[in-house]
Amino acid sequence: MEKRLYYLPGYYDLAFSYDISGEITFFTECFKRYADFDVRRILEPACGSGRLLIPLARCGYYVVGYDISEEMVAYTRDKIEKAGLSPSAEVVLGDMRRARFKDTFDAALNLLNTIGYLIADDDILNHFKAMAYSLRTGGLYIVELSCANEHQQIDETPDDTWVAEQEGITIQTTWRTERYERAEKRKHNICTMRIEDEKTSTRFMFIEPHIMRLWFFEDFKRLSGAGGFVLKAIYNQNFELVPLESPICGELGNLYFILKKE
Ligand SMILES: C[S@@+](CC[C@H](N)C(=O)[O-])C[C@H]1O[C@@H](n2cnc3c(N)ncnc32)[C@H](O)[C@@H]1O
Repeated sequence: MEKRLYYLPGYYDLAFSYDISGEITFFTECFKRYADFDVRRILEPACGSGRLLIPLARCGYYVVGYDISEEMVAYTRDKIEKAGLSPSAEVVLGDMRRARFKDTFDAALNLLNTIGYLIADDDILNHFKAMAYSLRTGGLYIVELSCANEHQQIDETPDDTWVAEQEGITIQTTWRTERYERAEKRKHNICTMRIEDEKTSTRFMFIEPHIMRLWFFEDFKRLSGAGGFVLKAIYNQNFELVPLESPICGELGNLYFILKKE
């Protein structure tokens, strides 16, 4: 997967940096409510630029992240070193389709629809099996993703554009879903990034496709279940419970799925 977005870690980090303290509090509450023990050791598949690893390590967790992009791994390793967190935070190269860890983790987190980069059922199933292998029985896997809209005609989602600025660098990012292939269960996204970096006197932009899984709730339950997990709860972006028996669809936005290895 050669995505410029993930091979320019410094720019990714700035573009996707926002306050995640509310999310961290939410995860901590989920750990207390749903795990069978005190959560101390956390695994983050596809950890990117360490957006989550660093604050989790600062909260006292032992965290290990992995990512398929060598650039992301090198950048995150450097960030961990600079923050003086290296004994309690680590990052390695790994692929969600097969990365598994002998060390048994208490919980794992996979945010921002990242699991959607796995498109084929086999890859998704292998990922869940690898995650079940890497977690203790009674441990949690929290996955954030959005499902397909219930009605095809309202799959038209508006572009999401935002600007991030820091120390002479300005980045405008646009994330747009171009089309949905419901039968093939694919979502075709386009990411556009315009970068102006005064420090290096560079100004450039790129536009690239990101093809992702179009999730249907039934598929998520079936594949996570076959991989060794039970779905315990779903929360929305306001951290409110969504009843498991209600229609779980794209109209609800990004959702947190609380999976438990039983
Ligand atoms: C949207 S970013 C999310 C990063 C991080 N989880 C976060 O919340 O900021 C997606 C990340 O997934 C990584 N990625 C994509 N496919 C992967 C795979 N098969 N295995 C491991 N990492 C992958 C990319 O390199 C990128 O760093």
